[in-house]
Amino acid sequence: MEMYDTPDEVVRRNRPSIPVTCYRPAALHSAARWFLDNFPGKVLYAVKANPARYVLSALHTAGITHFDAASIPEIQLVHELAPGAHIAFMHPVKSRHAIEQAYFDYGVRDFSFDSVEEMEKIIACTGKSKDLGLMLRLAVPNTSSELPLTGKFGCMPEKAAEILKAARKHASKTGICFHVGSQTMDPQAYTTALSIVGGILRSIPRTKVDVIDIGGGFPSIYPDMAPPALQDYKAAIENGFDKLPHPDRYDFWCEPGRAMVAESASVVVQVELRKDDVLYINDGTYGSLFDAGHLGFRYPVRLIRPTPGGTNAPHKGFRFYGPTCDSIDYMPGPFFLPEDVREGDYIEIGQLGAYGNTMRTDFNGFSAHEVVSVKAPPLVTMYDDTQETTDSKELCAA
Ligand SMILES: Cc1ncc(COP(=O)(O)O)c(C=O)c1O
Repeated sequence: MEMYDTPDEVVRRNRPSIPVTCYRPAALHSAARWFLDNFPGKVLYAVKANPARYVLSALHTAGITHFDAASIPEIQLVHELAPGAHIAFMHPVKSRHAIEQAYFDYGVRDFSFDSVEEMEKIIACTGKSKDLGLMLRLAVPNTSSELPLTGKFGCMPEKAAEILKAARKHASKTGICFHVGSQTMDPQAYTTALSIVGGILRSIPRTKVDVIDIGGGFPSIYPDMAPPALQDYKAAIENGFDKLPHPDRYDFWCEPGRAMVAESASVVVQVELRKDDVLYINDGTYGSLFDAGHLGFRYPVRLIRPTPGGTNAPHKGFRFYGPTCDSIDYMPGPFFLPEDVREGDYIEIGQLGAYGNTMRTDFNGFSAHEVVSVKAPPLVTMYDDTQETTDSKELCAA
């Protein structure tokens, strides 16, 4: 991978006509260290957030030795790039073939499930092995989350006790896992979910439960979503752990995706046409900006002029269209940029390390993009209170 000091250097040297992902290894390392140094248990990286080979290798080098995978291709990647790592298959609904492959070909022992039927599938497909870890995915409130994950998965708490007792008969390890929803803005969501877990544990005092897995949901920072400090999440989670019956008995796990990788990449796009407040850019919702279109995410943005000089023009809100012919390839923003932005300019879009490149499709022939590594800090950060990155206050207040 080519290395540059800044995204501006990439633009001025190459004048790229395809989107360029600017990978920031230092930011990835800081995020990994924060979780490893602060979470009182095992940190499983949720591969889905960014399965790039360079990300998985760098996380492993930074000390991440546990991974949450949701498919066989994700398991294969981790197996190859993080040899010896512990992989948990945390998708609550899996094909029989995937369970068999995970168990017999890749040595996966820990599986999540949210129904008796899925539990029976796992037991049958692994030859009734006695070395299974069966993790019951519990439905918990997702009310503080910008991207709730309720509805599709999760066992209702009132059914959990019976299922855990049944799981215990077949497994060498049992656990309770949950997800409070992605981009959770209130740390208390974890305390609330853990109090539900505590109620279940109290109702089955003679059934051993080994693992409490609080899932993902840790937030990143976006222009209209500035969450509390990650230390507040740590405090709320520890408070929740302390109130569990016999908190010293459990192995605690977490599965951060977004917060681990969001700051590790921005994407530099080019303006191909301007019509009033609409910019037609060369990346979009079929590329790395799925969430900007379908979920209305506003990412931090910054103008990069291809020639030295810049602009002092005041900022105004712009909307984006992506490169495909589909009119839903639209990102409403508003994205605040100097009002004299014009065709040929470049825009750096930050926080795309999570759920960015991984969402790219080949639709309409626009999948081409490049990846380079840069030394510059991320546009905004959750990981260093002392560091004012590029106009971070302005980018997040806009
Ligand atoms: C089981 C599971 N764990 C972890 C994650 C990562 O969540 P986040 O990116 O919100 O941290 C997800 C995301 O969908 C998930 O489904």
